Amino acid sequence: MKHKLFLLLFLLTIAGVNLSVFGVRHEVLLEKNWKFLKGDSPEASQIAFNDGKWQTVTVPHDWAIYGPFDKNIDAYKSKITQNNETKETMKTGRTGSLPFVGVGWYRLKFDVPDFKSVTAGSTGGKKVTLLFDGAMSHAQVWVNGQLVGNWPYGYSSFHFDITPFLTRAKGNVLAVRLENLENQSRWYPGAGLYRNVHLIVNEDTYIPVWGTYLTTTGVSAEQATVNLKTTVVDPEKSILNVETEIIDPTGKSVSKAIAKIEGLNNKLVVQIFNLKNPDLWSPEKPSLYTAVTNVYRDKQLKDTYSTRFGIRSVKFEPEKGFFLNGQLRKFKGVCLHHDQGPIGTAINVSALRRQLLILKDMGCDAIRTSHNPPAPELLNLCDELGFMVMDEAFDEWKRPKVQNGYHLFFDEWAEKDMVNLIHRDRNHPSIVLWSIGNEIGEQGDTKEGAKRAEFLQNICHREDPTRLVTAGMNRLGDDLKNEVAPVVDVTGFNYKPMRYEKAYTKFPQRLIYGSETASTISSRGVYKFPVVFDKGATFDDIQVSSYDYSACNWSQVPDDEFAKQDDLDYLMGEFVWTGFDYLGEPTPYDQFWPAHSSYFGICDLAGLPKDRFYLYRSRWNPSKETLHLLPHWTWPGREGQVTPVFCYTNYPSAELFVNGKSMGKKSKSKETNQTRYRLMWNDVKYEPGTLRVVAYDLNGKQVAVKEFYTAGKPDHLELVADRSAILADGKELAFVTVKVVDSKGNLCPDADNLLKFKVSGSGKYRAAANGDATCLEPFHLPEMHVFKGMLTAVVQSTEKPGVMSLKVEGVGLKAASIEVKTSK
Ligand code: GAL
Repeated sequence: MKHKLFLLLFLLTIAGVNLSVFGVRHEVLLEKNWKFLKGDSPEASQIAFNDGKWQTVTVPHDWAIYGPFDKNIDAYKSKITQNNETKETMKTGRTGSLPFVGVGWYRLKFDVPDFKSVTAGSTGGKKVTLLFDGAMSHAQVWVNGQLVGNWPYGYSSFHFDITPFLTRAKGNVLAVRLENLENQSRWYPGAGLYRNVHLIVNEDTYIPVWGTYLTTTGVSAEQATVNLKTTVVDPEKSILNVETEIIDPTGKSVSKAIAKIEGLNNKLVVQIFNLKNPDLWSPEKPSLYTAVTNVYRDKQLKDTYSTRFGIRSVKFEPEKGFFLNGQLRKFKGVCLHHDQGPIGTAINVSALRRQLLILKDMGCDAIRTSHNPPAPELLNLCDELGFMVMDEAFDEWKRPKVQNGYHLFFDEWAEKDMVNLIHRDRNHPSIVLWSIGNEIGEQGDTKEGAKRAEFLQNICHREDPTRLVTAGMNRLGDDLKNEVAPVVDVTGFNYKPMRYEKAYTKFPQRLIYGSETASTISSRGVYKFPVVFDKGATFDDIQVSSYDYSACNWSQVPDDEFAKQDDLDYLMGEFVWTGFDYLGEPTPYDQFWPAHSSYFGICDLAGLPKDRFYLYRSRWNPSKETLHLLPHWTWPGREGQVTPVFCYTNYPSAELFVNGKSMGKKSKSKETNQTRYRLMWNDVKYEPGTLRVVAYDLNGKQVAVKEFYTAGKPDHLELVADRSAILADGKELAFVTVKVVDSKGNLCPDADNLLKFKVSGSGKYRAAANGDATCLEPFHLPEMHVFKGMLTAVVQSTEKPGVMSLKVEGVGLKAASIEVKTSK
């Protein structure tokens, strides 16, 4: 089926075409009926090329996520200096072992029914713009056989005016060539048109892509000033009326401004609004306003443009810290890479929302988009759900970290990438800091480092004077000697809790926080004995213990960071590495095939919380009850052996009972960093039966009780969906947690059954993941082994409303099914 782009009524009748219509502006997502080839085919840029044999795909599309995993993909000999390695070894799995390397082509045919009005560059004609939210990577774009432009950095959003290239009414051809190189990334980058592609049709007078810049000043509970700068493109010297209305979070119009301007080429219109008693944006109450701007020429409506915004004040005050709306607070943040585990990098709003809701429940209030520009959908969700964002541009400047990394483009592209990031993102209330880089090699170059930091920081200040600039720095020795750290407005340090005091006294800014913290490693449901602190220890099963005593040689366990954050008032909080496991970087098993995804996550690759989730939750979300015990209590063969029990809880003390026998009452104490944040019974000897924990408040009053039991044999499956109803739009997902349980419903913590999935009704099976970093089963096939008794199955709606049913079966287990409603 061909896209009919400009007939509004027609568009509205195409099921599944996501169309935003603002007055006379038409915007459509180019999602369906793309043709795709994995491989090179230079003639594919040409109109007449026959793509009939190519695969038909829907965009966003990640060509590599379907696998198969292969040890040789992007395997290379290297010495990871960040891991303090001194000699080269063969590294596998660093970028996920999925086939992202190579060339891929996409082609899409579309019609232009009112062709006459888009004749090349004519005044009075429509303007047609193609906007890519991101394309991985080295994109080259052709329209009707002519090269329109290119954009190498796979994470940047970019756009082209394609009006001059539209030469025909029917069968216009859009062709995109992408190419990923070996050794271009330190994690799984994904591959292809993995973010949305928009086609925007404007009248000849219009507000261009990212054409408004909105700031709020003088913010208090009583009042706020909204400053809106709007760019208007107009081909004639005509009189334009620009009318903007401010709509409050309840949908009420609260202010209006009309500006009369003489339109000639690009005009900047400034409109100022004074609002009384504004509804302030914060993570706790993410209230959003909208500025709706109408542009009229000769009384004729030419464009309508919506700018969503929040009213909040952000202040970094030396020696005091970070203030949001006048209130001092510390970031309770996590770093996130962009992949969505089994979904890969193909952007999906319900997958992102699920991650953020899990983090919200943990009490997290901030995200660092490590180490690249995020998808716009993530920022929209952060605005809506209430997360403060550190929006990051680069992992590399001119000093290489990987052979084919960003250093190849820095000179030509750094300014363009930085400008696009800021123009696209600067209206988001969620963003509180721009980050110009992570662990940049230039920290070691006295002159060049400072020069490049200044260059990038100046771009940020020029394009958005309202926000400060930061970087995640890791080489404190160099930073103390050299010039990068003193240049950035706000100093972020990665993994330096023991040296915060030194950095604070040495650097002039007196603004310091943990831009990357902990990097504790663990595998969900895996426990190793004896329970000892280790740095980068490896085991034959290629897993890491979940007692949260394991870190890398440069990193820490969570409590070491907590203690500094609590003891040093001026510290502005932390961004934990990472909220979720991601594809690639399987430290400490970088050279242990088949490890190919990370162990750093607070949640695993399937989005299932590891024990650490509850440690953070007990600290970050203290008004909710957390009473979590580890390890599980099913240890056949360990009878009589020491099996320490830890409790992660928001309560100050608790008593543990094993089969009714008290193991004593423990209270959090300042004896060690661990006793300060965990309750630990280190001498418990395992005996099957019941673990009972009784929690007490500060007054010694019993406030909560929980029991955990030794599991029997695997008996049946328990299915729980994150949502029981989703949109029938062919895109929304439901995530179903699947547990193998005994006849009484206890999780069987060692179960590794192979499960099969069948979806019937108005949905389809999308993928599954079990969180095992060594599992080579493709995510998209409808079967997978559980890991430590659990996995996540993902189902997707179709465009037909109704009910879908997911049935899960496993040999020797009673099958189970769950229904998810889908509606328009
Ligand atoms: C940091 C780096 C991250 C990630 C992390 C865990 O040093 O900034 O990108 O590599 O270590 O290994």
